[in-house]
Amino acid sequence: MPRRTFAVISHPDAGKSTLTEALALHAQVLSEAGAVHGKAGRKATVSDWMQMERDRGISIASAALQFEFGDHIVNMVDTPGHSDFSEDTYRVLSAVDCAVMLIDAAKGLEPQTLKLFRVCRHRGIPVITVVNKWDRPGKDPLELLDEIEQQIGLRPTPLTWPVGIAGDFRGVLERSSGDFVEFTRTAGGATRAPERRVPASEARLAQGQWWDTAVEEHELLAADGADHHQESFLAGVTTPVLFASALLNFGVGQLLQVLLDVAPAPAPQAGEDGSLRPLEGDFSAFVFKVQSGMDAAHRDRLAYARVCSGVFERGMVVQHADTGRPFTTKYAQAVFGRERASVETAYPGDIVGLVNASALTVGDTIHTGPVIRYPAMARFAPEHFAVVRPKDNGRQKQFRRGMDQLDEEGVVQVLRSDLRGDQAPVLAAVGLMQFEVVQQRLASEFGVQVDLDHLDYTLARSVSEQDAPTVNAARGVEVLRRSDGALLALFPDRWRAGTVARNNPGITLTELPAGGL
Ligand code: G4P
Repeated sequence: MPRRTFAVISHPDAGKSTLTEALALHAQVLSEAGAVHGKAGRKATVSDWMQMERDRGISIASAALQFEFGDHIVNMVDTPGHSDFSEDTYRVLSAVDCAVMLIDAAKGLEPQTLKLFRVCRHRGIPVITVVNKWDRPGKDPLELLDEIEQQIGLRPTPLTWPVGIAGDFRGVLERSSGDFVEFTRTAGGATRAPERRVPASEARLAQGQWWDTAVEEHELLAADGADHHQESFLAGVTTPVLFASALLNFGVGQLLQVLLDVAPAPAPQAGEDGSLRPLEGDFSAFVFKVQSGMDAAHRDRLAYARVCSGVFERGMVVQHADTGRPFTTKYAQAVFGRERASVETAYPGDIVGLVNASALTVGDTIHTGPVIRYPAMARFAPEHFAVVRPKDNGRQKQFRRGMDQLDEEGVVQVLRSDLRGDQAPVLAAVGLMQFEVVQQRLASEFGVQVDLDHLDYTLARSVSEQDAPTVNAARGVEVLRRSDGALLALFPDRWRAGTVARNNPGITLTELPAGGL
């Protein structure tokens, strides 16, 4: 069956968990909303594998939800939903073909949505926009479109247009057909909300001025050329827009249909050397996320891989591209939150969780047949830095083992220098929560309590071996080596970096990936 693989990008509270539930409900994965993914206190709190998650009621890490819709298989890859930000979020977006940008109708574009959107743009991932919570008072729809165009330079091309202002959501005008799609409330959105298609003439009688307004605005949009154009969408120039209420399950079926109709199908991915392996060729996949300790009882380690080509069959022997070693995939699972099921077969676009794949790290390729290696995943520009030390000096060995593992998983970047020594490495993170995760995991998995001393740096630039001593000698600057060998110079702020560059015209301070995002 054809595949669609996407992720939702949004600011916390825009309704991502609610939308996930509604999608699953619509696709009939579940009989009742609330069972898939939720915050603390909801029916089932999933991915609460860490105490921290339970305490905060946030979902830090889960994987992909797969369901059938129409004659397609849809993979929804989960992005961490908390307000903080980690490299995980960026990496997840390397595993999808399309993103759904979920916006709160009352708030418009919010900071995290913007950050995530920039990652999508950087990666060339097309974006479908969903304006959520239309059942509540919110901004004017034309104003929202303006905001999108002004702030992120994407041209909105609404596929549906709301009938009734925000807070009085009656349904939508489907712009391609001119029909009215009427929504009917069900109690709390807990079941699939019926959608009734009504021809324009009938809608005019039933909805009166609300219908007239919608038609007028639709014509305005058409005159302005704001109509869906597939090539422009795929090129990241335009974004189709839908209006919805995830809570009431309005517009959710339409979103699924749009994903099937316009989102790109998995395409062959280029290897490091630029070669393309056809979708129907030998099996290949890349690891975009590694996670341990999800199941306290089993202490396992999961490597999540996106299938890029060929067919994955549970039990097959695949090769690890970096080492050439064979790797048996006896235990392959589909994981979403706490739910797990064995995966028997998987196709391009699907996500498989490989259990106890201790040899695999983020960015690795596994394959059968001739070797292929997908490009290494970029490590992003960290913005937070802290020295980490074990509280108990007697647990140095466990501390080192723990740091190595968390480093390998990409939970945090680990920087070292002769000056600081191995007992007190510097952690570098994109989001502050990464530090908490490190602390928690060192304590629960390695029995090591640590102290963190935050450093006053906010900016990292990479420097060459040759320039490193000069940069290191500058006031307020420190050069450390990351575990992948890169030398990073840490600065308190961009002005200091500017001064160092001006005072030493011969040196180069290179921005790290995503630094400009
Ligand atoms: P998130 O995962 O993006 O952080 O958001 P989440 O789905 O948890 O939704 C945040 C809040 O917004 C929730 O309310 C949720 O019920 C509400 N919400 C989501 N979609 C809609 C919608 O379409 N319409 C309206 N009116 N509300 C919506 P809460 O009070 O914070 O949580 P809860 O107690 O309802 O679970």
